[in-house]
Amino acid sequence: MMKKWNLIGTLALGAMLLSACGDDASKQAGNETAGSGDKKVLEMATSADFPPFESRNTAGEFEGFDIDLANYIADELGYELKINDMKFDGLIGALQSERIDMVLSGMSATEDRKKNVDFSTEYNQSGEMFITLKDSDIKTLEDLKGKKLGVQLGTIQEDGANKIKEETVDFEIKAVDSANVLIQELLSNRIDVAYMDKAVAEGFIAEQDLAGFDDTTSSSPGMAVAFPKGSELTEKVNEVLKEAEENGKLQELKDKWLSEE
Ligand code: ARG
Repeated sequence: MMKKWNLIGTLALGAMLLSACGDDASKQAGNETAGSGDKKVLEMATSADFPPFESRNTAGEFEGFDIDLANYIADELGYELKINDMKFDGLIGALQSERIDMVLSGMSATEDRKKNVDFSTEYNQSGEMFITLKDSDIKTLEDLKGKKLGVQLGTIQEDGANKIKEETVDFEIKAVDSANVLIQELLSNRIDVAYMDKAVAEGFIAEQDLAGFDDTTSSSPGMAVAFPKGSELTEKVNEVLKEAEENGKLQELKDKWLSEE
């Protein structure tokens, strides 16, 4: 008899605890979502002009390495992912004002940026490349002399170009909003060279039948996820990245998006 009552008591207590948890969870979700299901929303931002890391397909949907990785991170942490497309130049500011929770945008984890945002561990390494038209006679750094070189605004290539200009060879720099525009500028002869991440450059070279050569001077840091300073997400995402490294997920994404040719 006693046992039975204990069991009922336990069940009742369990039910109370469960419903308490449920309340809590829905309250939290209610605070953070704009009425889309009952999951907490993770606001991610990117500059979707940078295939194979982030771009939009013909249907306008986001795709790429960073998009898959962001979805994986959100899934693992139990969030619903919302992707915001912004100019690359505005991403750090959006993190600083906490309008968004994280950035995956092929963003290199530089010391300079670390003054304003926190970074996860690095998830990919990429060098730099100069892109030219196929018949261009610009084949080395020295050939840049007197030419017009294009970069994307706010990128490490913008800083890098200024440094090369100061230290090595003089040329004119034109900074534009998006990587797509940069390629258009090159194709329409408004710049002579475009300077960008190697993995992205290789894609544009193949797609648009362009030429290019490696930048041997640069030693840029790897790409990482960026967060507002002090965000508690940083550690959690680091754990997910570690797990993704160990269980082969990261390699799977690299094979899918970054394998050459
Ligand atoms: N890796 C370079 C940087 O961190 C360029 C990144 C540009 N990303 C983009 N989605 N357009 O500055």
